[in-house]
Amino acid sequence: MIDATPSVFDASLSKPGAGIDAFVDRHAPGTMHTYYGSGKVALRDGLAGLVEPGENVVVPAYLSPAVVEPLHELGLESRYYAIEASLAPDFDDLEARIDDDTAAVMSVNYFGFPQPGLDRIAALTDEYDCYHIDDNAHSPLSVHEGTLLGTHGDLGITTLRKLLPVPDGAVLYRTGETVNEWFSPSSLAGRSDRIATTDCRFVATSVAESVLQISPSLHRSVEAVLADGADDSSSVDPVNRYEAAKVPMSKCSAVVADAADPDAIRTVRRENFRVWQRVLDDREDVTPLYEHLPAGISPYEFPVRATDSDSFRAELGNLGVVGAHSWPTLREAVREDGTYETSVRLADNLVALPVHQGIEPSAIEAVGDRLPK
Ligand SMILES: Cc1ncc(COP(=O)(O)O)c(C=O)c1O
Repeated sequence: MIDATPSVFDASLSKPGAGIDAFVDRHAPGTMHTYYGSGKVALRDGLAGLVEPGENVVVPAYLSPAVVEPLHELGLESRYYAIEASLAPDFDDLEARIDDDTAAVMSVNYFGFPQPGLDRIAALTDEYDCYHIDDNAHSPLSVHEGTLLGTHGDLGITTLRKLLPVPDGAVLYRTGETVNEWFSPSSLAGRSDRIATTDCRFVATSVAESVLQISPSLHRSVEAVLADGADDSSSVDPVNRYEAAKVPMSKCSAVVADAADPDAIRTVRRENFRVWQRVLDDREDVTPLYEHLPAGISPYEFPVRATDSDSFRAELGNLGVVGAHSWPTLREAVREDGTYETSVRLADNLVALPVHQGIEPSAIEAVGDRLPK
């Protein structure tokens, strides 16, 4: 079985002295960062001191529906820019949406890769004197040409839940001077003690398996807590989803993040990405979104365009790949507007295959042996 997320009981996950914090300090020295329970709340807090109600933020149309909710809470209008098939912005469309009330433009590093055109977005935000938000929710460990993704803009976010088996967790990056000056963290900033420390210590240790044998009920309770926080892209309406995200980062997540071994995790994800590449190479009905895996990239998933995404997902499901899914569920306003045809087509065709560190490359090979060519 190839699940959507890694398990907390994966011993290879942790190493003393490693951790996400040290990784960020190493790859983005000088960038201020603050922990949150969710990227959405991190985004709200990062922007709150910088914007006025009535202003707008220009975001890509190819986006999960709840991501604009924090903008709406701040009284901002969300404006969608069209994207190209490469996931680059349609720059004519993007530029046409910027006006005097534009507070910020958001780029999104999809699936752990830098959004094509990132430098041009930065140039545009300079030209129009607005903030650049570097949304890097998908992959906290991607470093591209020496820059940690998420730290390209004036402010950025990343989501730990998409990397680690944790119920919550996100980081707000603040690179711009003004952003730091006006930053006033809400009560949801930082880490909390929401989950009992004993559970956390248990989760974080690499001797989890031996403890497990002594205490299967503890195993079940921790798994249940984590399952509750798992990403369910099919779920609830965007407003409820945002409300549910208003939690500080739990102690449990903090401990896992501190123990995680970023380099080891990135290595396994890259290896699994390459195995999917090989395994699907002969399939004419399936086209990978990314041909190359540049150095430093930690892929979130292996995304492909499938001519018939439903049957491809079903095919994978029959072979035990339960973690393959479509992405994202677009907002109705996007789906119904012909300007966003490319985003709609992509969302309809896309299948994201899991590459997380809990998967043995041989499990993907085994799927490949059974997949029709
Ligand atoms: C591109 C993108 N940005 C932001 C977010 C929000 O992150 P979080 O779920 O941590 O609030 C998501 C989550 O799905 C996302 O896909």
